[in-house]
Amino acid sequence: MLERSELAENALAALHDEGYARAYDARNLTHRGMIFTGGRVAQSLDGEWNFCVDLLDTGLRQKWFAMQPQPPAERSEPWDYDPFMGEVVPVPSNWQMLQDKWYFFEGGSWYTRPLDLEPDPDGRLFLRVGAASYDCKVFLNGAYLGNHLGASTPFFVELTDHVRPGRNWLMLFVDNRRQADRVPMQNTDWFNYGGVYREVSLYRTPQAVIRDMVLSLAPDCYDRIIARVEIEGADSARLRIEGLTEVEMSLTDGVGEIEIAASPRLWSPEDPHLYDVTLTAGADQVRDRVGFRQIQRRGTEILLNGSPIWLRGIAVHEDDRDLGKVTTEEDLIRRFDHARDLNCNFMRLAHYPHHERAAQLADECGILIWAEIPVYWAIDFPNPATRADAENQLAELIRRDRNRASVVIWSIGNENADTDARLDFMSGLAAHARAMDPTRLIAAACLVNHQTLRIEDRLTEHLDVIGINEYYGWYDEDFDDLGRIGKNSSPDRPVVISETGADADISPEGPAEGLFSEAYQAEIYRKQTATLAGLDYVKGMSPWILYDFRTERRQGIYQRGWNRKGLIAADKTTRKAAFDILAAFYAERAKETGS
Ligand code: GCU
Repeated sequence: MLERSELAENALAALHDEGYARAYDARNLTHRGMIFTGGRVAQSLDGEWNFCVDLLDTGLRQKWFAMQPQPPAERSEPWDYDPFMGEVVPVPSNWQMLQDKWYFFEGGSWYTRPLDLEPDPDGRLFLRVGAASYDCKVFLNGAYLGNHLGASTPFFVELTDHVRPGRNWLMLFVDNRRQADRVPMQNTDWFNYGGVYREVSLYRTPQAVIRDMVLSLAPDCYDRIIARVEIEGADSARLRIEGLTEVEMSLTDGVGEIEIAASPRLWSPEDPHLYDVTLTAGADQVRDRVGFRQIQRRGTEILLNGSPIWLRGIAVHEDDRDLGKVTTEEDLIRRFDHARDLNCNFMRLAHYPHHERAAQLADECGILIWAEIPVYWAIDFPNPATRADAENQLAELIRRDRNRASVVIWSIGNENADTDARLDFMSGLAAHARAMDPTRLIAAACLVNHQTLRIEDRLTEHLDVIGINEYYGWYDEDFDDLGRIGKNSSPDRPVVISETGADADISPEGPAEGLFSEAYQAEIYRKQTATLAGLDYVKGMSPWILYDFRTERRQGIYQRGWNRKGLIAADKTTRKAAFDILAAFYAERAKETGS
């Protein structure tokens, strides 16, 4: 608690010290602090939190986090905000969806809630935040514990040594400013939702804690499983794969790796079989449901369990007309039902890590997943801090989802200009992903060379799958150029059309024909699917996009703050004509390719 003299000094500093934020930018909450949470009991911290938007970072300047709860009448000094009372908001949520006055707010906001805790000398306590956009600073009882960068991945804070008996106060300062050095940077074609929009939980563990467990088939074979575990404070563990095997593992410096002779039933969209896995180490135990499959490329073929596959996909944003970026089970189930109605076997989760439930449900319903980090458009590639941020987001995504059989592609970015700095940055990300996970394909959504009308990008040699975003017939007028590109290009690896499509405003304000009409969009889908079906090296597509989505970039009369390239309108119910065209094309493809 600040003494009277400190308060006076602090009040002055709050006026004059423009370096106020430096002390709260440790960026220490990274993938290294993750623990494995599968099968653990979580104490939910969701619900009402005290909340305040803070346009001027006054709370950092004046150190609101250092205040103590006190009845207003007993306060001896004037105050500008009392975090222990006042307005409340639900967590998880995006502040833009709660009050009109916050719709366009971009900046920092304070979330405060009490925690009644008893220190446990034999245990440890971890806070998990599912996602908070973008910079989340964590304070407990006035102490700054660190901050996390990145709007779409989970992070952990160990509270063990900071807890006091009884009432504790947890404060989060969440800042969603769009900045040039962030990932994504300040210009995107999606809405910049802010806040704590995924679940917040507490995990109690024994002293010895399981931080990671990774399982997969050994490279190029179907009769050996590799298991790798990271456990703090234990030198052995027991791994059980229900119905398959049970083994003892020994650890060195907290890491254990073992190769097990076992021939699991393979996971595939047709048979999404999952195994129950349990890992026990000392008093700690975690669980997961894991499918085993091989995903590889051979020349321009994508092979699933050794057989060529054509990816019948759709792209999707994490966006909702009413909830913003908050994900619900019901919304995810609807999303996969729509994908099934489209005859999809593949989904691109754009342009950032989606809620972990998306990949878990894809595991269960047999949809292959392209997962991506938001290295989007003109990232500050030469900036080492931006690179560290991107690498960490990638590491967090991989650590969170690498046991998901459905996830077959890690995408390291979208539509970045082919510069030297970008090549260095993104080839580094590709190498990082391979080092963390050699079992999946690496991709990026690249652009065609509009001058030479060829698929040519220096990054492709660092990729397994070349994603191509093309909008012939929409942004690029001459549709025949798509055919020319098809002929001119001879990629040596599989191409997935990671985006194509057109806007269609089917509301009463929408046009009956021409650009932005339903008929025009439908025609584009007819022409695109017909042309792409003829290109041998094209091994899949994920048209842009399943649902219309919110974006302030779009202010035209037929857009009104929305990108209307959805095959379904923003109500997530009304289908556009192009939906059936794509569904019919995929039904045909499935027959032709037998997958
Ligand atoms: C780009 C971009 C998307 C965007 C889309 C569009 O390709 O990757 O994020 O929404 O085009 O223009 O609709």
